[in-house]
Amino acid sequence: MPLPTTTTDLPTVTNPGPFGHQQRKNFLFPENFTQYNHGSYGAFPKVVQDDKIAWHQHAERDIDRWMRRELRPALADIRARVAEVIHCDKDELALVTNTTVGVNTVLRSLDFQPGDRILQFSTGYMSVDKTVRYICDTIPDVQLIEVPITFPLTDQEILDKVENTVKTHQQLKDGSRIRLAMVDWISSVPSIVHPIKQLVELLQGYGILVYVDGAHSIGQVHVDLADLHPDFYITNCHKWLFSVRGSAVLYVPKHHQHLIHPTAITADYKTGFVNEFAWMGTQDYSSLMSIRSAIDFRKQHGGEDAIISYTHSLAVAGGKAVAEILGTEGVTPLKGHDHQIGNMVNIRLPIKNLNNPKVNIYLELEDFVRIGNVWKKVIDELNAE
Ligand SMILES: Cc1ncc(COP(=O)(O)O)c(C=O)c1O
Repeated sequence: MPLPTTTTDLPTVTNPGPFGHQQRKNFLFPENFTQYNHGSYGAFPKVVQDDKIAWHQHAERDIDRWMRRELRPALADIRARVAEVIHCDKDELALVTNTTVGVNTVLRSLDFQPGDRILQFSTGYMSVDKTVRYICDTIPDVQLIEVPITFPLTDQEILDKVENTVKTHQQLKDGSRIRLAMVDWISSVPSIVHPIKQLVELLQGYGILVYVDGAHSIGQVHVDLADLHPDFYITNCHKWLFSVRGSAVLYVPKHHQHLIHPTAITADYKTGFVNEFAWMGTQDYSSLMSIRSAIDFRKQHGGEDAIISYTHSLAVAGGKAVAEILGTEGVTPLKGHDHQIGNMVNIRLPIKNLNNPKVNIYLELEDFVRIGNVWKKVIDELNAE
């Protein structure tokens, strides 16, 4: 029984795109609907959904054959394809359903000891923050150290805040040690691309393990793990890479793999990192398989450089257009800090609030002008009340 065919067979387009409204036909949005929130749950092209369904049907035709013989090599192939995008060894990757699971996997595997401290930014994602708090609640004398962050900040100010927090802790001389730091690559609210390479270097320089929460990274920014070498890294593929929901990738370099086990232990316990994560119990693996056609779709539309360049430029220009309509400002960029914007741009609303439209290849500048005018109308009405 042949495996579902891959869209890789289609020619790669030499001219990137087309981007903007012409892309809408490739997605599942109804007419007259504009998606400004790609960031929370992602969105996937129809061909990727078709591919997921094809994998699902393939599995159902002969489930024994799929689960027993084909699944592991098929998942290994997905890992190899992702490894090519983020520059690492495929055997340093495990496929998991989402970032929340990936964060729990590492935090609940590590053998925290009394006196260990976990560093976290005050802007960290709530579920991640709560997972850290759970660890602190369940292991005696493990405590959270928060880096207080209020944007806007320059990259150097972010680094200084982190270093000051570490130094202040060191001065306590109470026998505790910061064992792990949780660091967002791109925070959620507000959405800020952090100086991730410098942060990893800085924290590792103090002997601290660094776990990069890259929930929003693959597909939104260039990811080069060979250059970054974090201790742990997780990214959702179902946000910016365009795969179907329930697909994420956890990176654990070989020297740390003995420390990490899946949150759900299976019969493969203690058979090695790759093996332990290759079987997560009976479930539908087709969302993970859809990563393949998501990567193919991106290649066919010009690849990572072209897509990231379009979405970033549109986020910067669109954010400025909306801020102008509202007579307000962006929380970022500070002057010369456009690189703190990925595809998600923060705009201060004149009613002491913040909004952050999130851009993908199916949007155009006129969509920002429209949303800016809608907000202006609502705010004018609120002010008139
Ligand atoms: C920074 C950050 N970390 C973690 C998550 C959790 O991702 P998921 O819900 O896919 O597990 C999100 C979700 O938006 C996020 O923004």
